[in-house]
Amino acid sequence: MLLEKCLGSLLLLIVGIFTHALGTFVGINIGTDVSNLPPASDIVAILKAHQITHVRLYDTDSHMLKALSNSGIEVIVGVTNQQVLGIGESASAAAAWINKNVAAYLPSTNITSIAVGSEVLTSIPNAAPVLVSAMNYLHKALVAANLNFQVKVSTPQSMDIIPRPFPPSTATFNSSWNSTIYQLLQFLKNTNSYYMLNAYPYFGYTKGDGIFPIDYALFRPLPSVKQIVDPNTLFHYSSMFDAMVDAAYYSIEAFNFSGIPIVVTETGWPWLGGADEPDATVENAETYIDNLIQRVLNNSGPPSQPSIPINTYIYELFNEDKRPGPVSEKNWGVFFANETAVYPLSFSTSDQITENSSAVFCVVKSGADSDALRDGLNWACGPGQANCTAIQSGQPCYNPDTLENHASFAYNDYYQKKRIVGGTCDFSGTAMTTTKDPSEFSKPFFVLILCMYLGNLSRFISCK
Ligand SMILES: *[C@@H]1O[C@H](CO)[C@@H](O)[C@H](O)[C@H]1NC(C)=O
Ligand SMILES: *[C@@H]1O[C@H](CO)[C@@H](O)[C@H](O)[C@H]1NC(C)=O
Ligand SMILES: *[C@@H]1O[C@H](CO)[C@@H](O)[C@H](O)[C@H]1NC(C)=O
Ligand SMILES: *[C@@H]1O[C@H](CO)[C@@H](O)[C@H](O)[C@H]1NC(C)=O
Ligand SMILES: *[C@@H]1O[C@H](CO)[C@@H](O)[C@H](O)[C@H]1NC(C)=O
Ligand SMILES: *[C@@H]1O[C@H](CO)[C@@H](O)[C@H](O)[C@H]1NC(C)=O
Ligand SMILES: *[C@@H]1O[C@H](CO)[C@@H](O)[C@H](O)[C@H]1NC(C)=O
Ligand SMILES: *[C@@H]1O[C@H](CO)[C@@H](O)[C@H](O)[C@H]1NC(C)=O
Repeated sequence: MLLEKCLGSLLLLIVGIFTHALGTFVGINIGTDVSNLPPASDIVAILKAHQITHVRLYDTDSHMLKALSNSGIEVIVGVTNQQVLGIGESASAAAAWINKNVAAYLPSTNITSIAVGSEVLTSIPNAAPVLVSAMNYLHKALVAANLNFQVKVSTPQSMDIIPRPFPPSTATFNSSWNSTIYQLLQFLKNTNSYYMLNAYPYFGYTKGDGIFPIDYALFRPLPSVKQIVDPNTLFHYSSMFDAMVDAAYYSIEAFNFSGIPIVVTETGWPWLGGADEPDATVENAETYIDNLIQRVLNNSGPPSQPSIPINTYIYELFNEDKRPGPVSEKNWGVFFANETAVYPLSFSTSDQITENSSAVFCVVKSGADSDALRDGLNWACGPGQANCTAIQSGQPCYNPDTLENHASFAYNDYYQKKRIVGGTCDFSGTAMTTTKDPSEFSKPFFVLILCMYLGNLSRFISCK
């Protein structure tokens, strides 16, 4: 039982690693309206234990930015809504902000984007007239600091600025915002940045008055008679998430802009709600997040932009118990503040993704000649530059102590690192690739695979 629970996490991890190599990612938002927020170093440990490679902060907390240094994690920092007005009215305020909150941490903290405000048009419309000038000033300050190639500037917008998102092909931005949106798109295009979209099928579903089935919001298959099809394009929308992203692409297209990719800066599902929020359940939240991860990591874009993957940030890491509003508002987190998981981040139903994902292992062929294996092992650990530390005596992957297991470890380590640059899984015919789910391997081999991917088992696995 324990093993099965853990397996879900393992698969998440494996898919995470592989997909990272391909560039598509699922990151996470870190809101901090939390009593007993864990110290920054613990937060970074959680991120690392779960192989989370991308985070978004809502501010520029210095403890957090320092803790993230040299972590390999890419960071979006936030200009708070309170700061937008001041920066939008003053180029020097923007320059000071960049120096204090970005330049001071680069390159050791890998800040890759600045999110200017949070849903500014719908939450602080009075700042809308200066939103794009704030972005421009920040960008100019980055140019002056020679950081504009590393750091993009954008601004997350709510789906609410697209009043009728379905059918996606006819979606347009609310025309009250025409001039701001036009300037925004022009800025994103000119600076090679991307559109930040907050997309919540939870709200699309709960506010939809039963127009859409919950299965559509949760990425579950729909019966063939209830397929959701855009009547103009005849595209099938297998999830509301895809439809929302496409609605934003079509809205951008209506302004005659193209080539601005969309990144989903927030999406999620609350796991607990009040009496009037019956859809906020652990089961729905777990289903949504599991299926979202599978959806994003399959690398395809929405129907109108199939070749642009939908990089996505889950909302959110911790339950923010101090947030005002309905019960659900405090319960979007995948972790409690005490660092235990609310539900396992599980890939237990992931047969289709393991089957078709790039989760390919390189292992020893059964019956391979032992001299050839020894040569292969020596080559992989030597010229092949596999990291064979873990299979040395006294190290965590030394057992099971057989030539086959050590060679499998080394072959796989080599293959995962070098495959993208043309490394093959051959080793004089002693190796083969397999996409088998690791749970189907014999137990010792499963332990070995586990070992390959988990530097620190106990931290990673949050099995119930
Ligand atoms: C920071 O992230 C960028 C974008 O993925 C990457 O190209 C770069 O190598 C990273 N820098 C460091 C120091 O890790
Ligand atoms: C468009 O935005 C304006 C200003 O926020 C709002 O009053 C109006 O209701 C919105 N229109 C639609 C169709 O949502
Ligand atoms: C806003 O833009 C849309 C699409 O470009 C256009 O149809 C509409 O007339 C514009 N509205 C205003 C108020 O400019
Ligand atoms: C977009 O381009 C089309 C065709 O050139 C034109 O008719 C339309 O007015 C343009 N729309 C906007 C918002 O510029
Ligand atoms: C990826 O997901 C989309 C949306 O669910 C689906 O249309 C597409 O076929 C999937 N692609 C692969 C390769 O599984
Ligand atoms: C963590 O907090 C949650 C919610 O308060 C609680 O249910 C759980 O038992 C706690 N876990 C530990 C290990 O303290
Ligand atoms: C998985 O890949 C196979 C072969 O590449 C393909 O025929 C099949 O349609 C794919 N399945 C899914 C769910 O995309
Ligand atoms: C090699 O793997 C060990 C753990 O087995 C790790 O501590 C070490 O940092 C790795 N070395 C390199 C160069 O990646």
